[in-house]
Amino acid sequence: MRNDKKLILVVDDEDDIREILAETLAGLGFEYITASDGEEAIGYLDQHHDIIDVVICDLKMPKVSGDEVIAYGAKNYPLIPIIILTGFAQLDMALDHIRLGAFDYMTKPFRVKELLFLLKRALEMRQLQEDKINYQNTLEIKIEEATQALHDQVVQTVSSFILAIEAKDRYTQGHSKRVAEYSVLMAKKLGLSEDDQADLHYAAQLHDIGKIGISEQLLNKPGRLNVVEYETIKTHPSKGVKILEPLDFLGHLLPAVEFHHEWYDGNGYPRGLAKEEIPFMARIIAVCDTFDAMTSERSYRKPLPLKIAIQEIKDGSGTQFDPQVVTAFLEVFKETLEPKMISQKAP
Ligand SMILES: [Fe+2]
Repeated sequence: MRNDKKLILVVDDEDDIREILAETLAGLGFEYITASDGEEAIGYLDQHHDIIDVVICDLKMPKVSGDEVIAYGAKNYPLIPIIILTGFAQLDMALDHIRLGAFDYMTKPFRVKELLFLLKRALEMRQLQEDKINYQNTLEIKIEEATQALHDQVVQTVSSFILAIEAKDRYTQGHSKRVAEYSVLMAKKLGLSEDDQADLHYAAQLHDIGKIGISEQLLNKPGRLNVVEYETIKTHPSKGVKILEPLDFLGHLLPAVEFHHEWYDGNGYPRGLAKEEIPFMARIIAVCDTFDAMTSERSYRKPLPLKIAIQEIKDGSGTQFDPQVVTAFLEVFKETLEPKMISQKAP
């Protein structure tokens, strides 16, 4: 918390003037620090810029001059107003310095009334600028929150379609939701940024959205699919991209949706991409998707035992799956999924 008393940095090489200014400021209820040349002033600014409210600065000083202090302050600490202290002879220069970023000027010998007036105006201007910055920041945060809420809502609406489709078939019910849940655990394990975690959550929730474009009979068909049926099912990633394309804010997630059935060795679909050609998020979703498919009941089989499902994931490392993702998945499984799934199964 800043003290109520405002802190003024007084910069002048003449001892008398510094002392008079300091005494006057104290009498007017200000706190002050003094510097006897520009170099010292810049040092104070660097060290105490967060508590200095206003600078009063002489122009003609040895070593580092007043104009250098003004230029430095205006560049690095633009919120701190600098009042120039100048003799009549330097008035032209004073005006030039105002153009350089100084707030105003005061002639020597100064009058107390004038000093107080200038300080008040400088402090008011500073307050206005701080208020403006705070207002802009608050506004930006509010806009960001509102946009995020809107995006969440749109994703919820879109994913509710896939949830509805899954709900028609008790064997796939909740699949996308679980894949999203596993993917977020994976994102954390793999050290993805918070933004990437949120993106992966969206992408995993929506990865099968293209199934909206596939007939229900085919999606829910018990038993093996013939070649034509399988080719139709294989169109769901591209159909998903078509569905999501109009939603601009999801544009960067489309590759994760489109390529979640690619294989690490290039034997997947739709394009036969391999290794790093497959987007990282798609490689993560691929493992989570397959694991959930194996551990959920299907019309033609019971859920596979966890041990066998995990063995399948291990066996797919380097062929179907990215080995790095498999390693992370095995850790996530051991730490989080296995204990949870075992406790859910327990009577
Ligand atoms: Fe899929």
